[in-house]
Amino acid sequence: MDRESPLPPPLRLPDPRRSGGLSLLDAINSRHSSRTFQGVPVSLADLGQLLWCAQGLVAEGRHRTTPSAGQTYPLEVLVVAGAVNGLAPAVYRYVVCEHSLALVSEGDQRADLYAATMAQAEAADAPATIVLTAVYDRATGRYGTRGITYTLMEAGHAGQNLYLQATALGLGTVAVGAFREEVVRSVLNLNADEHPLYLFPVGRPLPSPG
Ligand SMILES: Cc1cc2nc3c(=O)[nH]c(=O)nc-3n(C[C@H](O)[C@H](O)[C@H](O)COP(=O)(O)O)c2cc1C
Repeated sequence: MDRESPLPPPLRLPDPRRSGGLSLLDAINSRHSSRTFQGVPVSLADLGQLLWCAQGLVAEGRHRTTPSAGQTYPLEVLVVAGAVNGLAPAVYRYVVCEHSLALVSEGDQRADLYAATMAQAEAADAPATIVLTAVYDRATGRYGTRGITYTLMEAGHAGQNLYLQATALGLGTVAVGAFREEVVRSVLNLNADEHPLYLFPVGRPLPSPG
């Protein structure tokens, strides 16, 4: 994309489903990590559902789907999309208040992202990877260094929601914490105050061996 051209307006995601689906206990009981994926795209509705579970709004915007210390909301959610029906391959940022995706940079950047993961090739062909990042200043501004701890705790809340919603949708994911931060930062075009925490490749899982 021409760097001078304005970014397109955010893409509104399908409204998230707020009830029904697999029961919470069934999702908890079946949760596990998936590292191999079928070569089929995920739907935009499923991607939107996962993003909403990570940080979306509930109760008419008074709460989010995950708790936040003092409502400081230090987490951001990005997507490296490659094979999502109805979504051009690109890097996007989830816009919580609009339940939409804002374009960060165009093109399929999954190979670059997985170059950052010390060749954890099992996830290289996932249709999309959801990335949780932290803007620690939002939490440390109120809580000092304890805000860093709180931010990491919040990533755990969001990550478990991603696991459970993926399970309920018949999708698989794995929490990837081992990656070269500078490479991920470059793929996502992050400012210096934003730090990648967790990668969640998502896709329709291949049956796990055994
Ligand atoms: C903080 C954290 C970091 C992790 N990092 C990785 C990773 O870099 N690569 C990976 O394949 N799995 C990673 N995992 C997933 C664990 O390996 C996985 O949860 C564990 O093997 C248990 O398997 P299960 O999730 O299927 O129960 C991570 C999990 C956590 C909680």
